This record gives sequence, C-alpha cells and structure tokens, in this order.
Amino acid sequence: MTHAEILAKLTALKDEIRRHDNLYYAKDRPEISDTEYDHLFRELIDLERQHPELITPDSPTQRVGAPPLESLTKIPHEQPMLSLDSIVEPGEVQAFDQRMKRELETQSIEYSAEPKFDGLSVELVYDHGVFTRGATRGDGTTGEDVTVNLRTIRSLPLQLQARSGLPDHLVVRGEVYMPLDDFQALNRRITERGDDAFANPRNAASGSLRQLDSTITATRPLVVTCYEIMAQSTQPPPTHWDELDRMAQWGLPVPDRRKLCSSIDEVTAFHRETESIRDELPYEIDGVVVKINRRDWQDCLGMKSRSPRWAIAYKFTPRKEITVVQDIAVSVGRTGTLTPVALLKPVEVGGVTISRATLHNADEVARKDIRIGDTVKVERAGDVIPAIAERVPIPGEQRKAPFCMPDHCPICGSNVAREGAYFYCTGQSVCGAQLKGAIEHFSSKHALNIEGLGKKTVAQLVDEGLVRSLADLYRLTKENLLTLDGFADRSATLLLQSIEGSKTVSLDRFLMGLGIRQVGQHIAKVLAREFGSLDEILTADRERLQQIREIGPEISDSLVAYCSEPRNQEVIAQLQRLGVQVAPGLATGDRKTSSLAGKTFVFTGGLDRFTRDQAQSAVEAMGARVSSSVSKKTSYVVAGRDPGSKLEQAKTLGVTILTEQEFASLIEEEGKELS
Ligand code: IVH
Repeated sequence: MTHAEILAKLTALKDEIRRHDNLYYAKDRPEISDTEYDHLFRELIDLERQHPELITPDSPTQRVGAPPLESLTKIPHEQPMLSLDSIVEPGEVQAFDQRMKRELETQSIEYSAEPKFDGLSVELVYDHGVFTRGATRGDGTTGEDVTVNLRTIRSLPLQLQARSGLPDHLVVRGEVYMPLDDFQALNRRITERGDDAFANPRNAASGSLRQLDSTITATRPLVVTCYEIMAQSTQPPPTHWDELDRMAQWGLPVPDRRKLCSSIDEVTAFHRETESIRDELPYEIDGVVVKINRRDWQDCLGMKSRSPRWAIAYKFTPRKEITVVQDIAVSVGRTGTLTPVALLKPVEVGGVTISRATLHNADEVARKDIRIGDTVKVERAGDVIPAIAERVPIPGEQRKAPFCMPDHCPICGSNVAREGAYFYCTGQSVCGAQLKGAIEHFSSKHALNIEGLGKKTVAQLVDEGLVRSLADLYRLTKENLLTLDGFADRSATLLLQSIEGSKTVSLDRFLMGLGIRQVGQHIAKVLAREFGSLDEILTADRERLQQIREIGPEISDSLVAYCSEPRNQEVIAQLQRLGVQVAPGLATGDRKTSSLAGKTFVFTGGLDRFTRDQAQSAVEAMGARVSSSVSKKTSYVVAGRDPGSKLEQAKTLGVTILTEQEFASLIEEEGKELS
C-alpha cells in the first residue's frame, strides 16, 4: 500500500470503529456483533503497529491508559463549574416555579427535566472535534486533569462526528458514573483480593477516574453522560433541549430519559414517574434536574455564588423500608472500636437485600432508642451500608430492655474502655479482631503492599495461631502456609516471595502500616518528610512533633503513646531483626538525595524476588519512577524471566540493562547509602 492508501485505510477504520462505539455506547443500538467489532479493532491495531508514526491520540486504540502519573495536575476550568440547589418537597418545586415566573415576568415557562446522575462531574474539552482535555469539578474553579483516564471510557467519543457545524472549540459538562451491575462485580473482585469495597457506585466512579495509573481506570467499567454545553466557539443553541440534541448529533452520549415540560405540573409528573422506575434503571440516580429551557432566560436569571438561578435538583426521598431488629451485635474494628450493629429481618430496599445496619455508636442507639425486637425504618441513600432512620412505635408493644454496650470485648474478653461516645477493646494484639485488622492494614496496598495476603488468609493465620504479631508474618514458612485452606505449593511460594519483597519499605509506608491512631497516609508522609528516619520519629517528644504545621495535640499524643508502649517498641525491633529495612523518606516524591532520583525504570519479564508493585515502590522510594515503555530517556531496563520486546528496544537504543539480581543490589546499595 502507498502511504496515502495506508492513511486512507486508517482513517476509514477509525471512523468505522467510532461509529460503532457511538451506536453501542451512546445509542444502545449496535449494528454488528462483538466478534465483528473485535475484528475491526484488531485490524486497526495491526495497521498501527506496522506504522506507529501514524498513531493519533484520538485513535480508538489509545484508550488503554498511559504510564502512571506521580500526581494529578490541577487545571483551571474555562467556565466555573457550578453546583445546584436541591429541594425534596413538592411544595418547594412549586415555589421555584413561582419565583421563576415572577423574575421572568411571564406565566408560561418551559422546563427541561432529566435524571440527576449520581456520579462525578467532569469538564470535557474538544478542539476541532478532538477530545483534548478533561478535568474533574474540584472546587468548581480548579479541577484535576484526568484527560488520560477519561480517554479510557468507551462511551466518551475521542473525536466528534462532523455532520453539522462542529465548533473549533467546545467545552461540555457531563457525569461519569458506574452502572450498578458493574459496581457490584467490581466490589466482589476487590473484596476477594482482600481490599476494602467501595461504599457506593459514586465512590467507585470517583476512585476509578482519579487514578494515577490510567491502565487501572481502563479496567473499570465507567460511563459518561453529557448534559451541558459550557462554552462553544460558534453560536450556541437557543434552548437546553436543542443543546442536548446537538450534543447527541456530535456523538456525545446524552440522557436518554428526559422530558420537555410545558408546566411545573409536568415536571412533578416526570419526577414521580422517574422515581417509580428508579430501581429498574441500570445506574444510580438521586433525583431529577429541572432547567429553564430557554437559554436567553437562563442568561437573564444568571447565577448566585455557587449555583445557577435557573436550575434546581429535585431530589428523591431516600429509600426506606420497614423491618424488625432481631438482635444487636457488637463488631470490633481494626483499632479496637466497638460498633453496635443491628441484625435485621432481611428486607429489600431499592433492589438490595438488607440484613444488617450500622448503629454507629452507643449514643446513637440511645438517641434513636433502638432495642432488640423493635420495628424500624431502614434507609439506603445510595450507599451499600444502610442505616436505621428511626424506630416505628407500635401501640401496646412490650419492649425489651435498652441496649447496653458490653463491659468486655465480645472477641477476646479484654476490658472495654470508653472515650466520649466510643467504646473500645483494650486488648490490642491479644484481640483477634484487632490483630486481624492490624495485619490487613499493615499489608494493604498503601502500606507494605503484601500481595496475596487477603482478608481470608489473614483470618486463617490468626485463627490457627500462626501469626500473633506483625513480626510473625516474617517467620512464616512454606509448611505453615500449606496447612491453610486454599494454599498449594505455588500460592505459598508467591505469598512468601511477596512477604520477602516487602522487607524494603519506605518510611511513610511503614509508619502508615503500623496503624497508629490518627496516623494515616497523609500524616505518615508529613512525618517521613520532616524526620527522614524511623528512629527520630520513635524518639520525638510532643513539643518536637507539634512544631510541624499539620501535627496537632491529638496526633502527637497518639504517636507518643504508641511509641512509648513497650509492646509496640518490641514489635518494631523484631520486624527490623527479621530483615525489614525502612528506607528513609517518602515512597514517591522529591527525594533528591538518592543518585537514582529522577531516573526512569522499565520492567520486562517476570521477577522472582519482587512483585511488580513492590519493585515499583522500591524504585519510587528512591525518587525514581517506573514507565511502561522504553525510550531514549529510559535509564534502566530490568529484564526478568522471559523478557518481551522491550529488551530488544533497550538494546537498540543503548539503554542500560539490569538483571533482577543487579536491580536488587542497586536498590539495596541505595538504601544503605541513604540510611
Ligand atoms: S446540570 C449549572 N444536570 O449534580 C448546572 N447536573 O448537585 C450544572 N448532576 O455537580 C449541572 N446529573 O455533578 C446537571 N443532568 C444533570 C446532572 C447534574 C447530575 C450533578 C452535577 C452537579 C450536581 C449538583
């Protein structure tokens, strides 16, 4: 094929794929089978692989994600991204209509009504029809640049369809959310891995979009729907309804359920109908957005400081059902906090069967006066964790005695102490619940990142008495692991490798992993940045700690209390004796002291001593970064077992190649030099 023919073929393929994406994701009307689609896609990939210089950023193949970022960049919005005033009562929507009529001096107003999607709001910028930039709402003036992450969303066109007058510059606003089925499947996957589930689809969407690693976003089932043109370089349409139509013509997904209402009563009817089918929709909505249809009237009404005067969010009442409290159990959390939980007669609330509801703390139980046997209203406001809204008094009922928190921990029998409204078990690592929580936390992704140590394994290790402290993790043997359910030779080897690999850890991750009350990821970073070494932190007094801007009396008290407890000192000493090396400073960021700071590593092939995540953390702890592709700027390519084409590329470009052993030595040497 000549160059011109290749270009023409590429363009035709891309257009065809975009057309099918639009039919499938925006119109829900696919014309070809998945296999036919895959075939077209493959053809494009192959052609682009032969001619990489012809790959354009708007190609459908570019949705796979890009190398991880260190942080999300803040970018100012072209137009402020306003919020909406909300109402719930029918009377309030009538009052809104009256206000609009008064201000516009008319008796007849057309409203456009559409669902209020429960996700996160994004700004999407198209230049000459090509998606160039996207940001989260942030504080309304400045958001986070999530362009690469948005590119991975299949319903978001990377190029608009140019049928009718595309503006050179276009800014639209939409909502990114996660369909309910996909949300439940994602949570299942996450909890099987031992990580914490997302509380609701909105958090899942936000967590997935605001990822530093867009290849993770690419695996998350996000969708986008657009509902507003914020700016365009050509004449904007005269009404909101036309605006939605125009966006649809350009190939942007817009709300398929919407209504042009000629009176506020029609709005109320649309709200009622939408609420009645709310549980049949494949995604979560929490109300209806009502907008004055004429844009000249919108302009005339203008806006208040944070919200437009011409639109309102008419929310649904939270879903509630009635059931009975069969028992009140008390659960013990990672830090020993006791939480009363109502065990309910199972009831379906908005399509989800609920059998437990948190009662938060003893004061809350007393305030709501909830007792075993009571009839209650359960509420689910988009969250997976439901709450008891109120007790429903039944005339003449014989009630049980008021609920009291236990004096002894239901898990380990240690004494229970009280701190304000909170009760906690004093048993610490003697308490199985706290020990399990402490180990899960220690091995979690943002701490020591020990892969393969999920909730189920931790529970078995503690219940079987194999692990009685954090240090015991480093004493585990293959024989120990083989006695556990679900472990075979390979999984035991992998877990031991992962534990071994966690022995080199940055100071902030280690601190965070200790699970000290008040010391989360952020404070751990603050401390690591300020002190540099573990010893300095362990011996710092309150005054020294409080010289740090973000450390107040509560954090310093908690830290000093932790560090002065001999049991904790012993665990840290044991961890170090067992080979855990705490590298100074931060896991990521600007540690200029390391000679590896600013260098770029690329990994290819399998590693034996580290998981990929551990290797990445070690690299980042030295102030270097990991990239997924080799270029002239790559500092090192680490070639493991069965390396891929990246090794060849490294050879061609003359990039230094390291074996896994050499890489490990390099990291260790750096660690020593810096400690
Ligand atoms: S219009 C200037 N339309 O609701 C008006 N917002 O509580 C801009 N939202 O932050 C918003 N669905 O994220 C509009 N159909 C819809 C919406 C919608 C969801 C969100 C949006 C906004 C929040 C306000």
